[in-house]
Amino acid sequence: MTRSDRSATSQPVDPVPGPGIVPAFTNPRTGRPALRTVSVVGLGSYVPPQILTNADLARMVDTSDDWITSRTGIRERRLASPNEATSDLACEAARRALSSAGLRPQDVDLIIVATITPDMPFPSTACLVQEKLGANRAAAFDVQAACSGYVYALDIASHFISSHTYETVLIIGAEKMSAFIDWTDRNTCVLFGDGAGAAVLQHRPHSHGLITTCLGANGGDARLLELPAGGSARPASPDTLSQRLHFLRMDGKETFRKAVTAMVSAGQEALARAHLTIADIRCIIPHQANHRIMSAVAERLGATPEQVFTNVERYGNTSAASVGIGLDEAVREGRIQTGDYVLLVVFGAGLTWGSALIHW
Ligand SMILES: CC(C)(COP(=O)(O)OP(=O)(O)OC[C@H]1O[C@@H](n2cnc3c(N)ncnc32)[C@H](O)[C@@H]1OP(=O)(O)O)[C@@H](O)C(=O)NCCC(=O)NCCS
Repeated sequence: MTRSDRSATSQPVDPVPGPGIVPAFTNPRTGRPALRTVSVVGLGSYVPPQILTNADLARMVDTSDDWITSRTGIRERRLASPNEATSDLACEAARRALSSAGLRPQDVDLIIVATITPDMPFPSTACLVQEKLGANRAAAFDVQAACSGYVYALDIASHFISSHTYETVLIIGAEKMSAFIDWTDRNTCVLFGDGAGAAVLQHRPHSHGLITTCLGANGGDARLLELPAGGSARPASPDTLSQRLHFLRMDGKETFRKAVTAMVSAGQEALARAHLTIADIRCIIPHQANHRIMSAVAERLGATPEQVFTNVERYGNTSAASVGIGLDEAVREGRIQTGDYVLLVVFGAGLTWGSALIHW
């Protein structure tokens, strides 16, 4: 990506420094701070080995392989073991991403973990990952944007790098959804799975990189998809436990409708900012919620099925991990080559949504 491409981003280009602010790096010609391009320099993902098939689920709740496959496209999903937490899934994906970047944990300046299934309310899962990885130089924090979390983390990371604050940022979308699923509720338990996807980001002179990110949210629809209790509004009590309020709840039909609309408009906004059309995109990686949502999004964006990457049939909806796992697999499968344009479009609880356009 060239410097001029950067003018199509959501970030301010060459902002004028305020009084007293001394920018770390200045453009000698203009005297203004020079923003840097941001490249993905390493990718990794991890899914736990244990597979739960639709046939297994049909023995647990009143459902069938046919119902799940026709409504969602999901055939199986992965489950973390009881002694594996979200931070463990995140660490494995992170180690693979660092290895593919040729970097050590000590090279990382910042770790951002996107998750709605943290090991515990605090400390952050990112701090636990920092310790487990041995990334002792890194600052660390979590981002909570549900299934949109990976793109939110990507956006935040890009600002730290382009503004010269950090050189190397590790982002990880990681979820142990199985810990928050009501395994007696057929409406939701068939949809989700566990896993993690990670990326290492740096500025690489003369390399392609992130062109733009678009983020959105609508707290007015927060109740459509939520985990009602266990926070400060409804602390854990015998009452919340007996009402099963510590499990994920969802209005499936309304969530479906909102997801399609939001992902289409986020994708269109990214294309418009970059002055590209859908035909320019080699690979679209939508949030892997279910195949009907992805097909509807692709159709409305005018994309062909060949442009759309899916792995939902193998992993189900892994929330913040979904597009991170997808991006890693798409690159390893050769679906994305240097010079290609890649579009991520995401949607999740909050409601939140977003897109990221990357020149590979
Ligand atoms: C959940 C979802 C698959 C349901 O599909 P749907 O087409 O809306 O379902 P339908 O209306 O055809 O069927 C609903 C019926 O199926 C039943 N049903 C729900 N889950 C079932 C299951 N696993 N097996 C069998 N039947 C099931 C319901 O109880 C309901 O029965 P009723 O009509 O007797 O009350 C769909 O709404 C969806 O994908 N929503 C988006 C979910 C999502 O991706 N959320 C995460 C976003 S990040």
